[in-house]
Amino acid sequence: MQENPLAAGLGLPREPPPLSLVIFGASGDLTRRKLVPALFSLHLKGSAARMRITGFARRDWTTESFRARVRAMLDAEDAPPASAVDKDAFAARVDFVRSSFDSPEGYAALKEAGPDHPNRLFYLATPPDAYQTVVERIHQSGLADQSRGYARIIVEKPLGRDLASARALNEVFAGAFPEEQIYRIDHYLGKETVQNIMLLRFGNEIFEPVWNNRYVDHVQITMAETIGVESRGRYYEGAGALRDMIQNHMLQLLSLVAMEPPVDLAPDSVRDEKVKVLKSIKPIGADAVEAETVRAQYAAGIAEGGEVPGYRREQEVAPDSGTETYAALRVSLDSWRWAGVPFLLRTGKRLSRRATEISVHFRRPPLNLFGDRARLSAQPNVLVLRMQPQEGITLSFNAKIPGHASDMRTVAMDFAYGSAFAEELPEAYERLLLDAMVGDSTLFMRKDEVDSAWRFVTGILGGWAETARPCLSFYRAGSSGPDEASRLLASAERRWRRL
Ligand code: BG6
Repeated sequence: MQENPLAAGLGLPREPPPLSLVIFGASGDLTRRKLVPALFSLHLKGSAARMRITGFARRDWTTESFRARVRAMLDAEDAPPASAVDKDAFAARVDFVRSSFDSPEGYAALKEAGPDHPNRLFYLATPPDAYQTVVERIHQSGLADQSRGYARIIVEKPLGRDLASARALNEVFAGAFPEEQIYRIDHYLGKETVQNIMLLRFGNEIFEPVWNNRYVDHVQITMAETIGVESRGRYYEGAGALRDMIQNHMLQLLSLVAMEPPVDLAPDSVRDEKVKVLKSIKPIGADAVEAETVRAQYAAGIAEGGEVPGYRREQEVAPDSGTETYAALRVSLDSWRWAGVPFLLRTGKRLSRRATEISVHFRRPPLNLFGDRARLSAQPNVLVLRMQPQEGITLSFNAKIPGHASDMRTVAMDFAYGSAFAEELPEAYERLLLDAMVGDSTLFMRKDEVDSAWRFVTGILGGWAETARPCLSFYRAGSSGPDEASRLLASAERRWRRL
């Protein structure tokens, strides 16, 4: 029986069965930055009390030395605060298998370990070029056998680089695991404020009646970052903003904000509705890329308190690179609810502010009762869902300025998570790991979701390659992005929200 995810979010107990978690690529960055802190946090809360964790990597480490490393990770500044006793106890739950990804002995060693833990959860924290080998070896060694307990795999993007390679990868996974045991992570879905989109829409009566093309003028989805590509130049050169952010995180946000109410909260009911949104997106191909998309790259500028180089001067980036670090799209949904409402998406690195938000911009009232002056000073209503930072929700509306005239000003009604709830927002990975352990796949991407998202994105990539349009434009690091993005608004009345 699968659990109700929102009930789980309300803190009802969710104790996973005894299990063995194997992290392939345990010597990498993801393990240190995300997985160990999330697992430790679960350990502190007493969740997953019957779990063993095995690191699997090529490094010349032993269980002893791996434990010492894990212990050191728990002392890092951003690790959850805890006593030395707790940290030692967590480190003692960890062991290590040293092996290359294609050596059958490594997998045989995994099989021998942990007979008391019939359930197996594999986490692919390896470079993507190792996915296929690891999955095939898991299968060949019998570790994916579902008869004693579950065998489940968690995998993260990049899940391919276009529709064809994504499908090929899906085949590889399907050769070893049934679809319901494949957990494709999009860490955005683990964020509390992203989960709140559904609660806001379907747990209240006042929003849904106006959530459609009769009342909404357009929707903006922004994911702006201040960081550059950091040390990921090699990966990013082959990816670009469209693949890195839009194919996954942004299309997930779009599907949550645009979906129909699901019949219930079973994982497939929710994902059925999300995939319908993705399928309703009007394709953007060679004939439309120029009008519907913008691509740009950051040039040198001022960011994070100092001068920073342009993208082409970053490490492992070609000096004449054509990779976009910024992309904006005007997305149309061919659906009853949203026909005629543009969804304006933009994402970029090295922008002036870090912000992830969805804003729903409503139409103006049908009659301009208060005259032209009021019309100029009053803005259409906007509902902003802020995912990060300063998570919260703001509704702006117009109010009369005190005095005799009927002048108006736009004011805001504000809800901030930080002041409304005492609880800390849990880390996305913590929630997602626990969900995978108990078998709740609601917040993971199903095969057909990934497929539909790639189909759309591959159309744009093909259009860009075929027409070399729109031209790559440039924006200063630390600015709010390229001016070209304003052409997607297609109306003098619309403005991108200020970053
Ligand atoms: C990742 C992208 O998926 O998401 C990164 O590969 C990006 O380029 C990151 O920086 C943003 O995630 P968050 O949680 O920091 O907003």
